[in-house]
Amino acid sequence: MRIGLEGISFSVPQSYIEMNALAKARNVDPLKYIKGLGQVEMSVASPCEDTVVLAAEAAASLLANFNIDKSSIGLVIVGTESSVDQSKPVAVFVHHLLGLPQACRTFEVKHACYGAMAGLNMAINWIQSGRAPGKKALIIASDIARYGAGTAGEPTQGAGSVAMLVSDSPTLIEFNLKGEGVYSKQVMDFWRPNYSKEAFADGHFSINCYLDALVGAYESYTKSTGDKSKNLAACLYHVPFVKMAHKAHLRLLEFERGAPFEKDSPALKEAQDDYAKRVSPHLDINAKVGNIYTGSLFLALLKLVEDFDPKASNRDISLFSYGSGCTAEWMTAKVLPEAHLRMKKHPYQKVLEGRVRLTVEQYERMLEGAGKADQNDSNICNPATWGIKKNFLYLGTHNNVRNYAVDGEVIIRAEVPKSEAA
Ligand code: CAA
Repeated sequence: MRIGLEGISFSVPQSYIEMNALAKARNVDPLKYIKGLGQVEMSVASPCEDTVVLAAEAAASLLANFNIDKSSIGLVIVGTESSVDQSKPVAVFVHHLLGLPQACRTFEVKHACYGAMAGLNMAINWIQSGRAPGKKALIIASDIARYGAGTAGEPTQGAGSVAMLVSDSPTLIEFNLKGEGVYSKQVMDFWRPNYSKEAFADGHFSINCYLDALVGAYESYTKSTGDKSKNLAACLYHVPFVKMAHKAHLRLLEFERGAPFEKDSPALKEAQDDYAKRVSPHLDINAKVGNIYTGSLFLALLKLVEDFDPKASNRDISLFSYGSGCTAEWMTAKVLPEAHLRMKKHPYQKVLEGRVRLTVEQYERMLEGAGKADQNDSNICNPATWGIKKNFLYLGTHNNVRNYAVDGEVIIRAEVPKSEAA
């Protein structure tokens, strides 16, 4: 059975900030953010754009762009680090906002940035099991990465969502299912306690944890399949910031050759050239959106599919997912020959061009407002206050119920308790 992606789409908040401006406001050399981290712009979510809104937008765009019949969807999984409720999953809000069929399973998965990859695995296994013939799975990665103003993590924030449709009639990507590469280890590199809206990270340690997990997952994959990375047409990594993918690729090549690269050596030059060929061309969206945790890897995948040269479609690509804490997975797939033609009908660049640039002051106000957006009976989520014009909107929490609107109509609303209505 062939299992893969029949659609992929993404969403970003309405606003963004330039890293150049942010660096200047923080008295940092802009080259640190632009060259040192590889980030050019960063998406900023307003109080009216939560994880549900971003997920619904990405999924709605997928359904429209790829002309998908809603009645075919039998599974909706949302992978997220930035959920909106301790009990109710983002997936069931999205299911309702999109008007999906009730004969459908919905749930949410958490493991830092790995959640959507876990969802993808569940979808693959579900389709392979043959229990729901003809049904398709909607896997959505949706996140708002928050470290807070003035922190070391601030330039690695971001917000957005990637939606993917998994089915047994793939037209974009076909997954290889002959083995698996997985790794887990308890580490305190990045976490977010229930009382905090902002993540805690041991930044430099987290980079090392990521690189160890990469080697672990890759080694597990090569033992399981015998495949080696040198045959891959492209290597995609989890991208908390673009420079991390560079560090990852070099570590992978060092592991393959069994020795570190020496400074200014021909071997290092060759590795840098390889990065320029097989990794960096796929990171443009990441550089302009920032970290979207669960979706960062799949933003790179979307860009790769759109640009893919069909002549390389006989070679595999790799996907490496890292979830702090930690767990990691290496998998491979093939990009199908017609994929880029399907993607080109809805170019990603248009989504980014539609964004509105914020000043640092506006960004700081939005960050502060978004931090209060979950408070009960607050009026912070008024779209007019923030100038947000979108099809899906979060309108705040009233009577302890989250309110959402689709195309100007409130479709999830706090019910007035019977005693007050009488
Ligand atoms: N010009 C050019 N480059 C410069 C520069 C300048 N003027 N000044 C500094 N740089 C370079 C540095 O040399 C460094 O590059 P290298 O790592 O290649 O040496 C880079 O800019 C960053 O500089 P610092 O290491 O000094 O930056 P920092 O200490 O302020 O923080 C960080 C960097 C640790 C990534 C921080 O942003 C952070 O904590 N981010 C959140 C955690 C994170 O993203 N971890 C990634 C792995 S964990 C994961 O992947 C899960 C997840 O999504 C969170």
